[in-house]
Amino acid sequence: MKEYSTKAIWEMDKNHFIHPYTNYQTFEHEGSQVICEASGVHIIDADGEKYLDAIAGLWCVNIGHGRQEMADVIAEQVLKMQYYNPFGHSSNVPGSVLAAKLAELAPGDLNHVFYTCGGSTAVDSAIRLVHFYNNQRGKTDKKQIISRNNAYHGSTYVAANLTGIHATKNSFDRIADSWISHISAADMFHRPAGAEHLDEVQYTQFLADEFENRINQLGADNVAAFIAEPIMGAGGVLVAPTGYHRAMHRVCQQYDVLYIADEVVTSFGRLGHFFASEAVFDMQPDIIITAKGISSGYIPLGAAIISDRIYEVIAKPQCEGGLLTMGYTYTGHPVACAAALKNIEILERENICAHVREIGPYFQEMIQSLRDLKIFGEARGMNLMSGVEFVADNQTNKPLPAAADVGNRVFEHCRKLGLIVRPLGNIIVMSPPLIITKAHIDSLTVILRSAIELTMTDLAKDGYI
Ligand SMILES: Cc1ncc(COP(=O)(O)O)c(C=O)c1O
Repeated sequence: MKEYSTKAIWEMDKNHFIHPYTNYQTFEHEGSQVICEASGVHIIDADGEKYLDAIAGLWCVNIGHGRQEMADVIAEQVLKMQYYNPFGHSSNVPGSVLAAKLAELAPGDLNHVFYTCGGSTAVDSAIRLVHFYNNQRGKTDKKQIISRNNAYHGSTYVAANLTGIHATKNSFDRIADSWISHISAADMFHRPAGAEHLDEVQYTQFLADEFENRINQLGADNVAAFIAEPIMGAGGVLVAPTGYHRAMHRVCQQYDVLYIADEVVTSFGRLGHFFASEAVFDMQPDIIITAKGISSGYIPLGAAIISDRIYEVIAKPQCEGGLLTMGYTYTGHPVACAAALKNIEILERENICAHVREIGPYFQEMIQSLRDLKIFGEARGMNLMSGVEFVADNQTNKPLPAAADVGNRVFEHCRKLGLIVRPLGNIIVMSPPLIITKAHIDSLTVILRSAIELTMTDLAKDGYI
């Protein structure tokens, strides 16, 4: 590619690139930080500044940046056979081998893989398959999908409607005649009025009862599926009480409602296992959605992995010679699938899941060591997934107003000090590459402490604390 000056890139980006989730008022004059190089757990921007990437790109660069082996396998597959269509009876080698490998890694009878180009399209595809499944069973009214407040499921039309984060709804339309509804998130830190004093077991029962009541309100014959992230990511790293997913699954089974586990963030090692639903939460869903870490962000890929039970129904022709009429040009793209196979080979060869199980508690402990800072409200997470919520004073947990913009302030101070975290309102989240070492975690903690201290000085100056 032709070389451009830093200024020219900044201008082209600002004038033509529509970025996701961007404030276009500030973008108008600030533009973007353009990242040009990346290696291991570090990234380098157009000005040559180096940062510890504590968000793994966006919850996805699990094996770390800049692996030669990944570049090689992608180049080899491009030269061997870069694309041929997957429709009807044609296929390709990496797509077939990866499907078998995913069936081996996924729990129980989740043996069938529908490939997509990312997480949102995998969510949408799963919902279409669920509706089709119920049509095939003659249950044509069973279409309602129950999601949760604060959930994040993506940005295509259906995935965005399943998302329960209020701030994502600004001025966007809802699906008309909505067959999507939301129940409470499992959020111990913000239990609703009347539930503040419940312990984990009682709170789990409270949430399972709410779910069951919603099914009864809608009518079980109208409810098709429940969708949930094992740990909510973009909603603020909300870790459900132990037993919550099992309790929700029991309700699903009782009412013939499918359980869709959105493991776009939690799969491929982030919680120390290839998939978290069964290995961490002791629950086998009917469908798992994955993306991000499946290819560690080297190339786009997503998948919905479905059970034998669903496959047997959807594989029956609706009529003589009937087709399953869904799929994309790039379903099972050979280059993406070859990259995912290499990514899995690296995760297995380097025992990265075991590393996460070992280093994850240290990461959580180091983040908790910042608890003495007045605005450090709560740190939540598990293994290499962490969220820190800021408050005005952690003695009282008095919240900070949105105008204090605390997440962005911490993010900006971290950035100036060489660390990238992700701000989400009054929370910052971290999800570093899984190859992170204790030394990296130590320097991350030192920087984060300084950034929070600097933020406290700013907040005091502006009268917020
Ligand atoms: C849990 C979850 N589901 C779905 C998505 C959407 O994935 P994508 O952005 O690849 O479409 C995301 C993205 O962050 C996610 O965190």
